Amino acid sequence: MALLKIARMGHPVLREPAAAVEDARAAEIQRLVADMIETLRDAGGIGLAATQVHVPLRVVVFSVPAMRAEDAEAEPGSARGPVPQTVLINPVIQPLSDEKVQGIEACLSVPGLMGMVPRFRRIRYTARTLDGSVLERDAEDFHARVVQHECDHLDGVLYPQRMTDLSTLVFIDEVQRPSRGVTAALQAVGAA
Ligand code: NI
Repeated sequence: MALLKIARMGHPVLREPAAAVEDARAAEIQRLVADMIETLRDAGGIGLAATQVHVPLRVVVFSVPAMRAEDAEAEPGSARGPVPQTVLINPVIQPLSDEKVQGIEACLSVPGLMGMVPRFRRIRYTARTLDGSVLERDAEDFHARVVQHECDHLDGVLYPQRMTDLSTLVFIDEVQRPSRGVTAALQAVGAA
């Protein structure tokens, strides 16, 4: 396994749509996913798309830790519960309603910043897993947000492009200063 270099906003690989994976069980995909998981762990992020590590293939790894889940007691992998480490190959998202909600996002490819991004509140997503089987899940709120953020990477879209109020794009260490009143609000949504 190896730590992979993470591309930052401005690198062309982050702007190009990624290609579908032909065989999820191929050795190079298994190796890529193992390296992505190690890289994500090292970076301390929630999710990572293959395009972020310079590989233009439709592969995502993510999890939703219990402390970020809407309902920590809900069944793991359920719409509002914590989600164990999950690998999505060729994922497809279907919104389950038109409702969108704003929430704070950050990205390993946009280091140091965060901002408010509107996302569909409820989605269904399907993907291949590493053994080639089909995964289908419903997701709500933070779980749905993470999947939409990561799948956007596969289409060459970074979260600032989804923002509707750029005044909320801020440096994390600037708003986290103790003297700033906004800190309490950010902590309330789990972003600080
Ligand atoms: Ni990202």
